[in-house]
Amino acid sequence: MNKGRAVVMEKELTMEKLLIEGGHRLKGTIQVSGAKNSAVALIPAAILADSTVSIEQLPDISDVRLLSALLEEIGGDVSFDGSTLTVDPSRMISMPLPNGRVKKLRASYYLMGAMLGRFKKAVIGLPGGCNLGPRPIDQHIKGFEALGARITNEQGAIYLRADELRGAKIYLDVVSVGATINIMLAAVKAKGQTIIENAAKEPEIIDVATLLTSMGAKIKGAGTDIIRIDGVETLHGCRHSIIPDRIEAGTFMILAAAMGEQVLIDNVIPQHVESLTAKLREMGVQVDILDDQIMISQGPKELKRSDVKTLVYPGFPTDLQQPFTTLLTGARGTSIVTDTIYGARFKHIDELRRMGAEVKVEGSAAIVTGPTRLQAAKVRATDLRAGAALVIAGTMADGITEIIGIEHIERGYSKIVEKLQGLGVKIWREALEESEQEELRVAD
Ligand code: EPU
Repeated sequence: MNKGRAVVMEKELTMEKLLIEGGHRLKGTIQVSGAKNSAVALIPAAILADSTVSIEQLPDISDVRLLSALLEEIGGDVSFDGSTLTVDPSRMISMPLPNGRVKKLRASYYLMGAMLGRFKKAVIGLPGGCNLGPRPIDQHIKGFEALGARITNEQGAIYLRADELRGAKIYLDVVSVGATINIMLAAVKAKGQTIIENAAKEPEIIDVATLLTSMGAKIKGAGTDIIRIDGVETLHGCRHSIIPDRIEAGTFMILAAAMGEQVLIDNVIPQHVESLTAKLREMGVQVDILDDQIMISQGPKELKRSDVKTLVYPGFPTDLQQPFTTLLTGARGTSIVTDTIYGARFKHIDELRRMGAEVKVEGSAAIVTGPTRLQAAKVRATDLRAGAALVIAGTMADGITEIIGIEHIERGYSKIVEKLQGLGVKIWREALEESEQEELRVAD
């Protein structure tokens, strides 16, 4: 396999847009990739080992390439063939990362826990605000401090330093996926026992704990709200295969519910998408569960309305709220979508309205009245899941929808065009016109 810098190429800012000719019924099988939100934690976790870690079935998305490049920046020997990432972390150094690539990626906060755990110090630049509203990391910081780190924030970079990390009892005031994982990363090599109370229970946390355990860590209770970690002195290399992406699977389920005749979603853990399955059935969609596949059959019948409230796992995921809102535009009656996790995650609503949707936002809720037949329009993806919502809207709409800002979509959905074409979606890329490039530059 090739090694070295050339392999970990990052894509330039996408100078393309997506075009979708809507209205076609979809049929076939679609493959789900490895979970993005696991990947962005598993890759930094490799820093903690003293020999080679291989992570298999990774999604080929820009977040993965960016993180791989960051591991190279700190001295890792990294290769990525589009699915398996191999990291030899033995020559890594505690290089400060206050600026540059690290600021392009929100999940670069996992470098804090991993570098602190290995080197007892780290300097990590953080991205500014984002389109989901404020994304605080106070619970991550509280956890690191409890383990003995001193932390300062200087000009947008977090400086962490500890003479020694010691296990501690940490109660999270907010149930946070990021804080739970980050504290695990920092605690696996700390002296003594760490207990995380009110921990998040998302499947991605179990996946990270599984990798760390294969590296020699001692972790109990991942997936419950109390996680116990007994620190160990060293961690070794291993091979790990990532879990399927439940949000990508959910996105395809919603697409199939909107436009599918018979769509088989392959490589999914059905239990991970139970809250969505229940909602789709409530709306009248036929969902059949197989071992690691889900079949969605949907004739040309009308969908029923449904209210949904996002909650921490196993509740309805905030990441599926935006695509689900698109589906509700085709359902009869008034539906209310409330996001209790990210109350400002409604940037897709304006774009859906351009396409003729009857939706209004009140506080942290979107009120959708349907059914409406969406009309093609020129729209802009402002964040990853808003992008997914617009792709689904494009397949439902009459005419050809143009989506700009697709680098947001490529952050989280690997080979999206090819995968959707496999179901019969008329979707293709075209170069951005000069005026569209300008619009994106201004928006950024
Ligand atoms: N929160 C705090 N303080 C903290 C951390 C979080 O107040 O220190 C709050 C957040 O503001 C939010 C809630 O707690 O209201 C939950 O945030 P959490 O920490 O769980 O989110 P995250 O770890 O930053 C991950 C995913 C998000 C996904 C949320 C769902 C990754 C890299 N990101 O974010 O995914 O929406 O969990 O809880 O795992 C996406 O995939 O598009 C995406 C944004």
